[in-house]
Amino acid sequence: MAVDPLIELRNVNKYYGRLHVLRDIDLTVDRGEVVVIIGPSGSGKSTLCRTINRLETIESGRIVIDGRPLPDEGKALAGLRAEVGMVFQSFNLFAHRTVLANVSLAQLKVRKRKKAEADRRSRELLERVGLATHADKFPAQLSGGQQQRVAIARALAMDPKALLFDEPTSALDPEMINEVLEVMRQLARDGMTMVVVTHEMGFARSAANRVVFMADGRIVEDRTPEAFFTAPESDRAKDFLSKILKH
Ligand SMILES: Nc1ncnc2c1ncn2[C@@H]1O[C@H](COP(=O)(O)OP(=O)(O)O)[C@@H](O)[C@H]1O
Ligand SMILES: [Mg+2]
Repeated sequence: MAVDPLIELRNVNKYYGRLHVLRDIDLTVDRGEVVVIIGPSGSGKSTLCRTINRLETIESGRIVIDGRPLPDEGKALAGLRAEVGMVFQSFNLFAHRTVLANVSLAQLKVRKRKKAEADRRSRELLERVGLATHADKFPAQLSGGQQQRVAIARALAMDPKALLFDEPTSALDPEMINEVLEVMRQLARDGMTMVVVTHEMGFARSAANRVVFMADGRIVEDRTPEAFFTAPESDRAKDFLSKILKH
């Protein structure tokens, strides 16, 4: 039972041409909750994140963020996008701008903050992700794990109500995965509402309130990590887990 819903999807359907990518999706994420989404490649996980953030339109259903239905288009849309931050597999930092400028940019353009105020907030957030001493470097001077932490700081700089992560560690060398997951764990402890697509089962077990398993555009299971990992109900989930947990 949802107690304080922040993100609500009701009967959401999405097509790419004739491909039915999201099928009757019902999902509620409460304020402060961490929901991990897992599932085979092509099951619609990225598309789900992108519809929540309105980077993609939907054909039917309803998406409500903090009690407000997502508008189809227009100015309110940009505002809503700022309310839900997104962190991608590829960090998408501006290569020719400093770390500090990367974190400040949207604050200036979207939030209309003054430069001094934006930079002060950026430095706070860089401190929070452990990069206070790297503010004046350029992205190429940082490791992948550090760049992803800059991307997280940049998302936080918009003061989002929720953060979506789409495979945030998939492009990282193994030794850098943990520093990013640790920042995400800290955000979770601080009460951030998070939807996280990941193959990091350790993170799912330890940080998620719920695990949502998707296959073929449907939510097949939506349960606690404990219940999901110890006793998956569906054959699809059993099959998926046996493959992913083997190595
Ligand atoms: N822009 C697009 N145009 C057409 N088909 C797409 C597009 N993006 C994704 N798809 C297809 O939609 C399905 C779901 O993709 P995606 O949401 O990326 O899955 P996942 O993130 O779970 O791997 C896949 O079959 C994929 O090929
Ligand atoms: Mg994906």
